[in-house]
Amino acid sequence: IRCSNAVYFNREGIEKNMKILTLGDIFGEPGRTALTSKLPELIKKKEIEFVIVNGENAADPGVGITKKNAEDLFEAGVNVVTTGNHVWDQKETADFISSEKRLLRPENLIKGSPGNGYGIFTSKRNKKIAVINLMGNVFMKKSENVFEAANKIMSKIKLKKEADYIVVDMHGEITSEKMAMGHLFDGKATIVFGTHTHVPTSDFRIMQNGTAYQTDLGMCGDYNSVIGMDKENSLKKFLKDPTSIKHFPSKGEATLSGLLVTADEETGLARKVESILIGGAFEERY
Ligand code: FE2
Repeated sequence: IRCSNAVYFNREGIEKNMKILTLGDIFGEPGRTALTSKLPELIKKKEIEFVIVNGENAADPGVGITKKNAEDLFEAGVNVVTTGNHVWDQKETADFISSEKRLLRPENLIKGSPGNGYGIFTSKRNKKIAVINLMGNVFMKKSENVFEAANKIMSKIKLKKEADYIVVDMHGEITSEKMAMGHLFDGKATIVFGTHTHVPTSDFRIMQNGTAYQTDLGMCGDYNSVIGMDKENSLKKFLKDPTSIKHFPSKGEATLSGLLVTADEETGLARKVESILIGGAFEERY
């Protein structure tokens, strides 16, 4: 048996750890381009087995996701796309989400919404990975109580029973709600990550009971902007300048921003977390 920080092998030399990459909100064309141009190489280099991204800002205006956008993300190596408050901002999404099980919408949307809020997916090595998409209640569109929704799913999907690994995207505006959700799942999920605020937080870590956590993954978009939107126009809007127009995505090079987690196959819990920042305005980390 060989042991290292990153991976360990059983007697047959089969790798026993699972590497799951999670990336924050893909923002407009720059975000999609960064992902399609950089992800395939990153998957190979880091031996990543499963990729989850939040895609609710993937469409050209920076809100919503079209069928083509989703297909492009899957083609580049993404396994599951989560969303949030902007999930229905492109008209076609409500139609194709029913037939595209790899695209999730928040579980706690108002009852009767199309699509699924969670699913159990199969990785390359046939491991079952449950992905759960939730949305916060504070300063967000009206939705069902997110903590009650989380408890309901937790009673149905248990680590090492229904799924080998469990990953939660908590799409929300405020840090306290996201951190509380991390604690609710601590020891019961592999990863809990936050999305929606488009700024990567530096609190990525393994929590007390073994769940990898980061309050916000940050966006995959141009950071020389105001959370992805053109900075001059956004400033005009804040200054109530009448020449301002509708928000539109900033066109500079996007940063791929997320968290890479190495999880233990025996427990389904995290063994290592690595912050990922590639390209664009930041000093790179990967
Ligand atoms: Fe959002």
